Amino acid sequence: MRVIGLMSGTSYDAIDAAAADLSLVGDSLVLTPLGLVSEDYDDGLRKALAAALPPAATTLAEVCRLDTRIGQAFAAAAVRANGELCDGRAELVASHGQTCYHWVAEGQVYGTLQLGQPAWIAEATGLPVVADFRPRDIAAGGQGAPLVSLVDLLWLRGRPGRPVALNLGGIANLTAPDGTAFDTGAGCALIDAAAREFSCGRLSYDADGALAARGTVQEALLRRLLAEPYYALPAPKTTGKELFHSGYLHNALAGLGHLAAEDVVATLTALTARTVADAVAGVDASEVIVSGGGTRNPVLMAMLTARLPHLALRHSDELGLPSGAKEAYAFAVLGFLTAHGLPATHARSTGARHPSILGSITPGREGLRLPPPAQRPPTRLVLESPRRGR
Ligand SMILES: Nc1ncnc2c1ncn2[C@@H]1O[C@H](COP(=O)(O)OP(=O)(O)O)[C@@H](O)[C@H]1O
Ligand SMILES: [Mg+2]
Repeated sequence: MRVIGLMSGTSYDAIDAAAADLSLVGDSLVLTPLGLVSEDYDDGLRKALAAALPPAATTLAEVCRLDTRIGQAFAAAAVRANGELCDGRAELVASHGQTCYHWVAEGQVYGTLQLGQPAWIAEATGLPVVADFRPRDIAAGGQGAPLVSLVDLLWLRGRPGRPVALNLGGIANLTAPDGTAFDTGAGCALIDAAAREFSCGRLSYDADGALAARGTVQEALLRRLLAEPYYALPAPKTTGKELFHSGYLHNALAGLGHLAAEDVVATLTALTARTVADAVAGVDASEVIVSGGGTRNPVLMAMLTARLPHLALRHSDELGLPSGAKEAYAFAVLGFLTAHGLPATHARSTGARHPSILGSITPGREGLRLPPPAQRPPTRLVLESPRRGR
């Protein structure tokens, strides 16, 4: 089955559309990557989204507008992926949508809101769309995240040693071989917030770590940031930009006097490296398979390598999943599992009472035609290289 996975993470930098050929062969789920297209949010929509996200307040009218506009943007990405990557023969779309709010209180998740109305995607592509993946896991007592953990576990099972998957997005998360999975804290979120702030909106991230490379880590600021209680919470735990936003950065800087932009960005980069490395140390890893936009920040990667000197740090590309596309492929897998009536969570990862079949399904143009339910869940994910001329 050809499936398009649509993802935009907390960084809301771009909509990633990955296409995959997926099939169940015995106990294996075989994934052939067909490629990725990325569509930047247009400036107007990005600004509207930024203005509505925490810590800002918004209105239901604005939420409605965003739901429509994000749905339309996701639909355009899906149409492009179907044409360019699937010869127009995709059969299913799996859309994560754009996380706009993750409702966490005292370590418990009560709700999560992903915008991007799937009706627009179904209308534009004619295909059935699986969306709203997270709420079912929350209703089953889980955190609704990290959902990619099931894909990580299937993918890395059987690999020698204790491989840990690490994704450095706006928020960083990891999956350990025993199923433990959690958000470690901010990945790029605070670095992005500082870059945006100090450049008066000109920069949306610290491209190639250029600011951090010129700065010096400020120990007083780093100590203050490390006192954040989230880091000491036990797994399963999840966080988001409801916590790690520009206001959080302002509070951390208050009373410290003037600090150069480069020094602040260097300190925030060190904070990410330190909190990620502490989290990795806590799960007893022998190697780390890393993905996400943060891998493109050489200062962050050098700091992380320095903090984990005994571990091999490999890019997910080396194992066949392109680092920038991994999450979009993962959602293609989750949508495929839903379409086959299979659970798509590992209960230990999210803290749910049981694994759940995820999502809500919007029928395609032909009505709702799903494959026959699979007999049993796959026990591993096998990546196949795409054959030429497919
Ligand atoms: N060339 C680069 N240099 C430094 N950081 C980068 C670069 N490219 C991407 N990033 C970082 O990666 C982030 C996006 O990563 P991504 O994996 O898409 O996260 P998310 O899932 O939150 O959208 C950007 O916000 C930025 O911080
Ligand atoms: Mg992104």
